[in-house]
Amino acid sequence: MILVTGGTGYIGAQVVLQLLGHGQTVVILDNLCNSSRTSLERIARLGGRRARFVLGDVRNRAQLDALFADFPITAVIHCAGLKAVGESVREPLRYYDSNVGGSITLCQAMAAAGVFTLIFSSSATVYGDSPRMPIDERCATGLPTNPYGFSKLMAENVMTSLAASDARWSVGLLRYFNPIGAHDSGELGEAPAQIPNNLLPYLLQVASGQRDVLHVYGNDYATVDGTGVRDYVHVMDLAEGHWLALQALMGGSGVQVWNLGTGQGYSVLQVVDAFTRTCGVSVPLVFEPRRAGDVAQCWADPDKARRELGWQARRTLDDMLRDAWRWECRLAAQHRPILYTPRITPVAVAQAASELAAV
Ligand code: NAD
Ligand code: UD1
Repeated sequence: MILVTGGTGYIGAQVVLQLLGHGQTVVILDNLCNSSRTSLERIARLGGRRARFVLGDVRNRAQLDALFADFPITAVIHCAGLKAVGESVREPLRYYDSNVGGSITLCQAMAAAGVFTLIFSSSATVYGDSPRMPIDERCATGLPTNPYGFSKLMAENVMTSLAASDARWSVGLLRYFNPIGAHDSGELGEAPAQIPNNLLPYLLQVASGQRDVLHVYGNDYATVDGTGVRDYVHVMDLAEGHWLALQALMGGSGVQVWNLGTGQGYSVLQVVDAFTRTCGVSVPLVFEPRRAGDVAQCWADPDKARRELGWQARRTLDDMLRDAWRWECRLAAQHRPILYTPRITPVAVAQAASELAAV
């Protein structure tokens, strides 16, 4: 049985689905601070089976001990954590407590239970403002620009030290680039509780009429069109990477680092254009000054994951945007019927109507 912490969250839920699809049994530990039990129903519907669920916190050692005593857990995928960059600047202690403290407590409980296989949801943010592009795993970790980034790097360091101290540990640090998109059924995706910080959730809320305009942070970078370039990766491809990493880690020893990205960067304007072309919805935008802490560009060299895991992102940017929009339409229809006034261009009326009809 695999323990997925944060398994009702955006990425964790896709990972759980992936594991269920490979016949694994799964127990989720989540405190629901940024997700809800609805994910469990969605996972059960799509996966044809239920994951077990325990409401709890990775910082609570007693709860973790009980969890390891109650379930025959052989490995842990640790997705639980806080991820809002701006919030981490305002409330750094909460971020270090959850992301670093929670990781330490989890590792302590694992060791006590004799479970030594661990996958950690890390981030390309640990590379900081890398002078080398694309970024491979040998690139030095840089200076993150906010407490969230530091907390991911610190948690990585904790796990690396731990694995160096005891050969029973087999740890995979998965450095995600920019996960976007939703399950291709359109039935499982991200449902931001607050004003989104990230590009795609914000763009989707503009496209669905909940927000007026997309603020594009910076158009004077040394990039193809002056806007920031990122490596967007489909969340289903990302989830597949976890399954392959888990198999590679089982029975192994030490720390392995894998970048999970496509190897292809897109600018903000390229994403907006692709969205309008693919989904037929216009997105009004306004240029703003650069956002503090942003890097101009960041994309992965994902070759190590390809060689060592046989993992390669298969889905295109258009797939990511189409699946994300399908999910946004579903959310809009279910929860925000009055607010929902999509900006549909004439060419796309039929397509958007069919998306909505499918909801
Ligand atoms: P999310 O907020 O949707 O999911 C995180 C889940 O963890 C939520 O369900 C939340 O309720 C739970 N959680 C938070 N603190 C907890 C705690 N102390 N105990 C138990 N549960 C707790 O976020 P996500 O996008 O699915 O991200 C998952 C992981 O991936 C995070 O660790 C994040 O830092 C990392 N990551 C995310 C991105 C991204 O762009 N989404 C990029 C790089 C890394
Ligand atoms: C951000 C975080 C990073 C975190 C990652 C995933 C910052 C500085 N970095 O990365 O630590 O690991 O999310 O959670 O917050 N953009 C806009 N308008 C918007 C939103 C974004 O123009 O409303 C631009 C950004 O300037 C950037 C690109 O879109 O060029 C991608 O931004 P975002 O989705 O926030 O991801 P990152 O900046 O890569």
